[in-house]
Amino acid sequence: MSQDNSSSDFNRREEIIILDFGAQYTQLIARRVRHCSVFCEILPFDTPWKQILERDPRGIILSGGPSSVYAAQAPRCDPELFSSGIPVLGICYGMQLMAHAQGGLVGPSDLREYGATSISIEDPGILFNGLDGQQTVWMSHGDSVLTPPIGYRVLARTVHGHIAAMERNEQSAAVQFHPEVVHTPVGLSVLKNFLQGMCHCSGDWNMASFVETAIAEIRATVGEERVICGVSGGVDSTVAAALIHKAIGDRLTCVFVNHGLLRQGEADSVRSTLQDALGITLVYEDASERFLSQLHGIEDPETKRKIIGAEFVRTFERAALRSGDAKFLAQGTLYPDVVESGTTTAATIKTHHNVGGLPSDMKFKLLEPFRLLFKDEVRAVGLQLGLPEDLVWRPPFPGPGLAIRIIGEVTPERLAILRHADAIYREEIFNAGLHRSIWQYFAVLAPIRSVGVMGDQRTYAHPIILRAVTGEDAMTMDWARISFDVLARISSRIVNEVAGVNRVVYDITTKPPATIEWE
Ligand code: XMP
Repeated sequence: MSQDNSSSDFNRREEIIILDFGAQYTQLIARRVRHCSVFCEILPFDTPWKQILERDPRGIILSGGPSSVYAAQAPRCDPELFSSGIPVLGICYGMQLMAHAQGGLVGPSDLREYGATSISIEDPGILFNGLDGQQTVWMSHGDSVLTPPIGYRVLARTVHGHIAAMERNEQSAAVQFHPEVVHTPVGLSVLKNFLQGMCHCSGDWNMASFVETAIAEIRATVGEERVICGVSGGVDSTVAAALIHKAIGDRLTCVFVNHGLLRQGEADSVRSTLQDALGITLVYEDASERFLSQLHGIEDPETKRKIIGAEFVRTFERAALRSGDAKFLAQGTLYPDVVESGTTTAATIKTHHNVGGLPSDMKFKLLEPFRLLFKDEVRAVGLQLGLPEDLVWRPPFPGPGLAIRIIGEVTPERLAILRHADAIYREEIFNAGLHRSIWQYFAVLAPIRSVGVMGDQRTYAHPIILRAVTGEDAMTMDWARISFDVLARISSRIVNEVAGVNRVVYDITTKPPATIEWE
């Protein structure tokens, strides 16, 4: 559970190992497998075979990757994997590697297949059991398997005649397409067929068992020591605090630094949830004025971030001193951060999206109960622990807070305008029942003014920009198709209720090329 521990702490009677060959979709494979209630972990493609065997996996999935199996530096796995008797599923590059390693023929396709492609299933095997004979799947490959290895039979072909899937004796299977992306409608069924039909997984991974095991682990790791946990009001840190509190009670102290850049009502709601509803000891530091005075006259976004990050660390350290003699620092680090930091056992913590990152010379051991969980799993843990829905479904909020949603200088007046507009926006999104389906939604205050008319008066006031994005991972996002009626209600309320605003615009840009935030 502490930073240097591996996942062996966790309840994983049934485990799937995903070997990562560098595909952009590897994390999605893991999410889909977990969605099937089967625990899985991503390991680097060159993980020694002995180490994989020690995990006693029910099955192994080979991810896609950008290489060609014939490239000199092509990533390969230990060939023992194919003779071990452990079921293997190869995806895209993983399929080509399976073929190449076992004597099949792989070559460049005369026709590259990208995007939605039709396939015909000639033989359902286990992988396509119960599925219709014609399917649309998502392809992204240059090379193809031209001849399967001995013992493998072809299950499906694309409209261009390329082999789309192959299988061997209830033991191994491979698909050229990506079952993990939403553009392959039967993708989840294909993965389920592999997990149930070949790996014989019953699906024992659920949040109730996670909570039970995690509590036992936290108790064992922490012993009689004390823990401090920085909380921001965000889902991850709040759920982490609730879980740790359940494990060790009063030996947890939470530290909440109010940098004055929070949304309307947020500081009060964090305090009341943690202190009153959960009974957690909270050290509260209202440093709003200090942060605001440091930001005076600053317009550059990165300078703002640096000032906020540095001031946050100073304030946190001061507050931490007041919270007793803690040995452990708890963080709500999630699995994607761990994976992106290099390896699943890496000690590096991604600091970019933490508030400045905490100083390396703080003498704490790290406690990261969610380092193997995805965000949706943390939300499920929150619900399991009885936290209120509106907290569990709160959209992600950046560490520097509203400072990066006020383009240009942050002043108390501009903060007040943005806070009010943002509160109306959030309220209407919630009322329209869209708060779960939209990944992030927030208002932005631009440093311009435009002409308007109110009553008989000409106005010269600020526009408010509304941003709302949908997607799965914050890497590639689409703008949310909020209905015109809902947008009309939000716009009318903002211009009528927020002094200093006479115009509302809606941002219809995807990421990329835009980012989610405006700064
Ligand atoms: P962008 O704007 O890069 O944002 O598309 C991706 C995700 O990261 C959040 N974000 C931040 N979070 N500190 C944070 O803690 C930051 O400086 C920061 N900048 C962006 C953003 O809200 C989105 O969820």
